[in-house]
Amino acid sequence: MTVTSLNKEKIKIVLFEGIHENAANVFEDDGYSEIIRYNKALDGRELLDAVADANFIGIRSRTKITQEVLDAAPKLSAIGCYCIGTNQVDLAAARNKGVPVFNAPFANTRSVAELVLGEILLLLRGIPEKNAAAHRGQWLKSASNAYEARGKTLGIVGYGHIGTQTGLLAEALGMHVYFYDILKQLSLGNAHSVNSLNELLEKSDIVTFHVPETPHTRNMLNADNIGHLKQGAIIINASRGTVIDIPVLQSALESGAIRGAAIDVFPIEPESNKHEFSSPLTAFDNVILTPHIGGSTLEAQANIGIEVADKLVHYSNNGSTMGAVNFPQVALPTHENKHRILHIHKNEPGILTRINEIFSAHKSNISAQYLQTHEGIGYVVTDIDKDNEKDILPLLKDIPGTLRARILF
Ligand code: NAI
Repeated sequence: MTVTSLNKEKIKIVLFEGIHENAANVFEDDGYSEIIRYNKALDGRELLDAVADANFIGIRSRTKITQEVLDAAPKLSAIGCYCIGTNQVDLAAARNKGVPVFNAPFANTRSVAELVLGEILLLLRGIPEKNAAAHRGQWLKSASNAYEARGKTLGIVGYGHIGTQTGLLAEALGMHVYFYDILKQLSLGNAHSVNSLNELLEKSDIVTFHVPETPHTRNMLNADNIGHLKQGAIIINASRGTVIDIPVLQSALESGAIRGAAIDVFPIEPESNKHEFSSPLTAFDNVILTPHIGGSTLEAQANIGIEVADKLVHYSNNGSTMGAVNFPQVALPTHENKHRILHIHKNEPGILTRINEIFSAHKSNISAQYLQTHEGIGYVVTDIDKDNEKDILPLLKDIPGTLRARILF
């Protein structure tokens, strides 16, 4: 359990894995000065030493934050994952220590949408196979089976952040855009929603998948529905590798039922660039294969640097946990002329009562109070008039079940 007050120059921020300099700039611009940066991921003893007195850490995908690492970081207030995924962190262990984990799920939306747009143009012109042939000394000069994007129909499965951006870019090229989503989504531009996936498959010249990985999206394109596609349709998947049944796609490519595909994500992906990639799709010149780089651009990295650092600064400055992946989410206003007390505890009956009894006994005037719970954790934020709060904090931390308490001046 830790009790800390906000003293920005004493707060230690440790950033690993060459996180974009925008992250450090966000902290510095807000008055934080103790920022340690490592260009690579650490592990073992080196990592334990590096986090020992850190208040905030920033990682990308290679730094593994296990129970052991969390135990070695008693002052840790929050973790920023400067990427999309958070599998590298033991999220439950962090939550049980009262440590929220933040990430940047949408900073690379535009990068994915632009890649998809490029792939649509290349596949409609048959460029992947013409390019592959040219590399082998063959000259496939022909206009047959080469099309403009203008006037073609794009079907988007999953009309969220990436799906909507892709739709807008496609409309700018004069494409007709239809989408299918399990939620009622507001149509952007002139896009039309359809009521079923089959309807979308039947209407579209190109179908692109932008859904999350869930039990419902597993093998969304499969042996039962692939027949609903138009002859010669194009398939694009830059979402998750499990969304398309690869052997079914393979058969459709072999038979010529579809004219090409672009696949960025695979059911099994190599662990690192040193591991070999294998897929039955490598046999097809008319399939663009990319190594899960849909969102990998320098602009996305720069945006991620800002987005995650902003979330950590907000949490540090005012306790806001919006966007935390393992924690109660509380959006908080500023606390001018008040002291804000953050109390993180096991979600057990009676703790809020105990907290308020302490405020009451100290005659502290509560001006606002926020409570959220999430998977066994309770988070109470209390704004009180500035008076005798220093005496209060040790009492609050003594409440059984308390994981962490902080006061923000
Ligand atoms: P999002 O959450 O903004 O949008 C997903 C949409 O899919 C939502 O509108 C949701 O309602 C819809 N959806 C969920 N289940 C569905 C179902 N069963 N049927 C139809 N629609 C369904 O997500 P975002 O940011 O647009 O990302 C989409 C996908 O792209 C995710 O899988 C994400 O992991 C992946 N991604 C891949 C990247 C890459 O490098 N290739 C980079 C970034 C994201």
